[in-house]
Amino acid sequence: MSKLDTSGDNAEQIEYWNGEAGTQWADRNNEMDLMLAPLGAAAIERASPNLGEQVLDIGCGCGGTTLDMANHLGESGHILGVDISAPMLDLANSKIGSMPQALQHVPSFQLADASTFDFPVGSYDLLFSRFGVMFFANPPSAFANMRKALKPGGRLTLLCWGPPEQNDWIMTPLMAAREHLPPTDKPDPRAPGPFAFSDKDYVKTTLETAGFIDIGFESFSPLMKIGRGQSLEDTADFFMEMGPISRALVDQPTPLLTKVKDAITEAIKDRYKNGFVELGAKCWIISGINPTA
Ligand SMILES: C[S@@+](CC[C@H](N)C(=O)[O-])C[C@H]1O[C@@H](n2cnc3c(N)ncnc32)[C@H](O)[C@@H]1O
Repeated sequence: MSKLDTSGDNAEQIEYWNGEAGTQWADRNNEMDLMLAPLGAAAIERASPNLGEQVLDIGCGCGGTTLDMANHLGESGHILGVDISAPMLDLANSKIGSMPQALQHVPSFQLADASTFDFPVGSYDLLFSRFGVMFFANPPSAFANMRKALKPGGRLTLLCWGPPEQNDWIMTPLMAAREHLPPTDKPDPRAPGPFAFSDKDYVKTTLETAGFIDIGFESFSPLMKIGRGQSLEDTADFFMEMGPISRALVDQPTPLLTKVKDAITEAIKDRYKNGFVELGAKCWIISGINPTA
C-alpha cells in the first residue's frame, strides 16, 4: 500500500504513523490487541451496531475493531476502516482472510486522512473509533468532514483516554522514567496525541462546533492487562516501547535508558504476575448524533 501525501495540516502525524510508530504497532499487534480488545468491546457494545448497518471506523489502525464490528453487522452490513498508516492497514487487510468466508466482503480499508477524505455524503449509520480521533490538527473541521458522511440521525461512538493523571497504566512507568530524563516543557494538552480528548468540555465544544448534538460522556475505568506473557524484564521493555514513553526516550544515551528501565521495573514489579502487569485506566465513551435537519 502506498504512502499518503504529506502536504496538509496533519503532515506530522502522517509521517509519524508511517514511520517507526506504525511499523511497531503492526509488529506488536497481538500484544496491543490483547491490551485494547476488552476496551474496544465495551465501546462496540455501547455503539449497539445492528445487522445491515453501514459503519465508519476512524483511525482503525491494524483493523481489530473493524473486524470485530463486522461480525455484528452480518452479511448485509459494511464497515470501512480509515487510517493514515500504510503499515498498519497492510496488516489490517491481511486479516480479512481469517474471517468466515460469508463475512469477508463486510470490512474494507481506506488509506486516507479522515479529516479531509471525500466520504460519500449521508451514507453511514455509525461513526466509531477506538483511540483513533485524538490526532487531528484541526478537530472541529475534521469532525465536520466526518459528520457529512453520516445519515441524518446517524450515531457517533468514540473511545478516548481520560486525563493522563487518572491513567495509572501510563503514569506509573512515566513517573519512574521522568526521574532520569532531562526536564521538558509541559506539552499543550490539546495538541494531537493520545490524551488530546481528555477534557470533556473541550470535546463537547469541538463536537458541537462540528454540528453534532446530544453529546454524552460515559466514564469507563477498566483494569488493563499489559505485557506479552514474558519476564518482568521483558514487560519493562514493553512499557518503554509504548507511545508516550517511547517518544520521551528517542535519542537518549544507553546508560540513561538502562537507568530508566531499572526504574520502570521497580515501579511495576508489585503489579507483575504471570507475564503481565495490571494497571488502571480512565476512558470516556463519547456519544453524539448527527441532527436530522
Ligand atoms: C492509537 S492508534 C489506534 C489504532 C486503533 N484504532 C486501535 O485501537 O488499535 C491511532 C490511529 O489513528 C490513526 N490516525 C491518526 N490520524 C489520523 C487521520 N487524520 N486520519 C485517519 N487516521 C488517523 C493512526 O494512524 C493510528 O492508526
